[in-house]
Amino acid sequence: VSLFSAPASAQTYPERTITVIVPFSAGGPTDTVTRLVAESMSKDLGQQVIVENVGGAGGTLGAGRVAQAEPDGYTLLLYHIGMATSATLYRNLAYDTLNAFEYVGLVTEVPMTIVARKDFEPNDLKGLIEYVKANKDTVTVANAGIGAASHLCGMMFMNAIGTQLTTVPYKGTGPAMTDLLGGQVDIMCDQTTNTTKQIQGGTIKAYAVTSPKRLKIFPDLPTASEAGLPGFEVGIWHGLYAPKGTPPEVTDRLSKSLQKALKDENVIARFAELGTEPSSEADATPAALKAKLESEIARWKPVIEAAGEYAD
Ligand code: MLT
Repeated sequence: VSLFSAPASAQTYPERTITVIVPFSAGGPTDTVTRLVAESMSKDLGQQVIVENVGGAGGTLGAGRVAQAEPDGYTLLLYHIGMATSATLYRNLAYDTLNAFEYVGLVTEVPMTIVARKDFEPNDLKGLIEYVKANKDTVTVANAGIGAASHLCGMMFMNAIGTQLTTVPYKGTGPAMTDLLGGQVDIMCDQTTNTTKQIQGGTIKAYAVTSPKRLKIFPDLPTASEAGLPGFEVGIWHGLYAPKGTPPEVTDRLSKSLQKALKDENVIARFAELGTEPSSEADATPAALKAKLESEIARWKPVIEAAGEYAD
């Protein structure tokens, strides 16, 4: 084997089951996106791509697990914007965000929705803002821990209205949604990949979407900007990562497979039903994900520092 040729293992990759760690509970938004993409990648790679849910600490536990895994292409991580925000939110992360991973590519960017339990009193976003300000000692906000998308959006909401509320952390917004449906918690800001079916079924109340424009699937649901929070916009981008040291031949193979999955008719259709769309071929590349992560760490750092909320 010449010094410049790929190791044999990289040339024959993949030879066995690949595990993608989802750093949140099963049944939630990251899990939903990952399972759709993994199923399609399985067909292209000729090996099973299975999902393992390792929830906790806003996704940083699962990310830490992957940072420690063998860099052989058989353990991957699908983590969203939390990969960027947790780099600032946590004072003592178990891994160095920018140096612990190799990049495969961007997967999707998902809008969020501000929602409440079905019988929550306010009927529109302005009413919600008035209500939570007047009842700040009793209103509860669900999230998936510090570093979660729901945490970021909740933090933005509380800052925008200048009111701190009681937050209730879960290992993912899958279980948080169960409690919202059961009425154990009042409000949540969560991705459309988790809220669409409930909003359409009328089992929860929706006040706004966080996208710059209204969504095709909810033509009557206003944007947060329209409904009373000007400039309140956030999109939850997701990326696929491998542990640092994974051979470039392997990450390139995975990238090609990801690009193919993102053009799969079934994936496109299911994403559309859930209010989102796959990333472009140019974005589903190691370089695009690396650039996104770097720019997003820089973008959110001052926002988080201004909010002054940290975890250890
Ligand atoms: C999940 O998959 O549970 C979510 O992405 C949690 C979140 O970040 O809000």
